Parts: sequence; C-alpha cells; structure tokens
Amino acid sequence: MSPAGQDSTMTQTTPSAPGTPLLEFRDITLRFSGITAIDGGDFIVNQDELFAIIGPNGAGKTSIFNVLSGVYPPQEGEVRFLGEDILGKRPNDIAKLGMARTFQNIELFENLNVIDNLMLGRHTHTTYGAIASLFYKGKAAKEEMEHRAVVEDLIDFLEIQQYRKFPVGLLPYGIQKRVELGRALAMEPRLLLLDEPVAGMNAEETEDMARFILDIRDELHISMILIEHDMGLVMDIADRVMAVNFGVPLATGLPAEVQQHPDVIRAYLGDGGVGSSRRAQKVDDSTDTLTMDEPGAPA
Ligand SMILES: Nc1ncnc2c1ncn2[C@@H]1O[C@H](COP(=O)(O)OP(=O)(O)O)[C@@H](O)[C@H]1O
Ligand SMILES: [Mg+2]
Repeated sequence: MSPAGQDSTMTQTTPSAPGTPLLEFRDITLRFSGITAIDGGDFIVNQDELFAIIGPNGAGKTSIFNVLSGVYPPQEGEVRFLGEDILGKRPNDIAKLGMARTFQNIELFENLNVIDNLMLGRHTHTTYGAIASLFYKGKAAKEEMEHRAVVEDLIDFLEIQQYRKFPVGLLPYGIQKRVELGRALAMEPRLLLLDEPVAGMNAEETEDMARFILDIRDELHISMILIEHDMGLVMDIADRVMAVNFGVPLATGLPAEVQQHPDVIRAYLGDGGVGSSRRAQKVDDSTDTLTMDEPGAPA
C-alpha cells in the first residue's frame, strides 16, 4: 500500500485553485560580489508538475533553490508560493508553508538511524514542544504515534525497510540519498526541491531514484523541481525543462523542445565538462521548434 492510499496516514495534498501556478519565480536577479548567479530567472511550476532545471556547473541552479528556500534574498524579482509572496520569509517559515528540499551533498545525521532521521523531517508538523508535552502527555504521545506512522509509510514507499534501524552513516550512498528524500517527504511538502538527486549514483541506483521521483509525482501528487546536470534523465522523466547558463535562462518548454534549442545545444557542446551532451549532439540544426512561453500544466 502506498502512502497515498485510502487508508494511509499521509495527508493528501489539495490542488491549488485552477489557473494559479503553485510557484511563480519572476524576474529574479541574485548577485554575489562581482558574480551574477541568477540573471533574470523566470519560470512557474504547476500543481503535479515535474519541472527540471538543467545547465552546466556554476550555471546558477543551486542558487535558484537558495532563493526559493529563503537562504539568499535576491536583489530583484518576486517569488510567490501558493499565491503568497515568500520573499523575505525565513527558511523555516517557507518550509512550514510546504517547501522541502534535498541537497547536492547529503545532509543527514549520520549517527542517527533511518527512522530518527525521517522523524526529524516531521518537526514542521510538531505542535507540542518539550514543555507543553509535560502538561499534555496523552496528546503529545498520540501525536508522536501519528508521526511514526507517517514515517513507517514512507519507509515502505521508499523500500528501505531493511535499513530502518541502521545508523545512516553506515548505509550505501544510494540508500543515503533515498533516506534524505524520505526526510524531505516526511515534511509532507507541496513542492519538493531535488538538487542533483542522482549525482554520483551508478546506473541501477539512478534508475531506482528515477522511479521514486515519478511515484512521488503520480502517487503522492507532490510537485517537484529537479536540478540535474545530466540531460538524459531529465529528458526521460520531466514534464517541462528550463535550461540555464551563466545564470541566464536559455530556454523553457517541453523536454524535446529544449534539447533542440540552438542556444542549449551551444551551451552544452561549448562546455567540455558537461556530462551528457549525447542527446543534444544527435539533434540537427533544422529543428527550432521551441517556444519561450510557458505552456500550461502538463497533460
Ligand atoms: N554564497 C556564494 N557566494 C559567492 N558566490 C556564490 C555563492 N553561491 C554561489 N555562488 C556563485 O554563483 C554561481 C552559481 O553557483 P550555483 O548556483 O552553485 O551553480 P550550479 O548549482 O548551477 O552549479 C557560481 O559562480 C558560484 O560560484
Ligand atoms: Mg549546484
């Protein structure tokens, strides 16, 4: 039984009002002294959408997540999440609104086991603090049981039952990445930000992760932004893609359209360090079908 099932303890997400994008990232510019990390960044994410951001190293992908999650305030632009202006809000408050994140480098508590790491993801849902728990013992205990049920559902969903009680630091890399995904999911987000979730994985681990990402969209109905260095995975699973280079959005649209865009091909072929230009290389120059407009929600 998946966590999205009828008798599940996971809370179902409710769609936002029709026509309102889940997330609007408008005309964002983020500068560090001398470097423009995001230069006119502009996109939307719809409910149930898997939106991917691709681009070479240093293109400004992670910076987009840092703006979204409230780590860095941009110099220009607007960010609306669930219709609400979130610029200037603190990371913890944005998380509480329903935005969760995994990191390019795993950020877990290595000495804690899988269950406890996922329980930490529940902190945004905890109503009783340490003192209150003393006075409302019964209610706090009930709440704790509910959190554990959600966490156990997620452990089943991510197929990591056999690692439940293992300290995370002892687990294989691919499983640790899955645990980190579990901790983000434990927050029951409306929008999940995944920063290179398959970086450093072998082919089998990558395939597993791709399957979980699709299940998160299709079974849990959680919208996602997927940052990925490698075009191959993105072409296979994303609903829409934005390609960026030097902080500038080059093209936004359907995966097949973006990979055929001349600027995208140029950015990838021009950068010898980029992992997967294999698909772009196959594209001939005659195809220029990309629209820079954002189409509506995916079918
Ligand atoms: N905290 C920071 N201070 C200064 N420069 C930064 C900081 N974070 C990112 N940058 C710079 O912004 C640019 C984009 O970085 P980043 O968003 O991490 O790229 P990506 O994730 O696409 O590899 C890079 O030139 C990087 O060095
Ligand atoms: Mg990055």
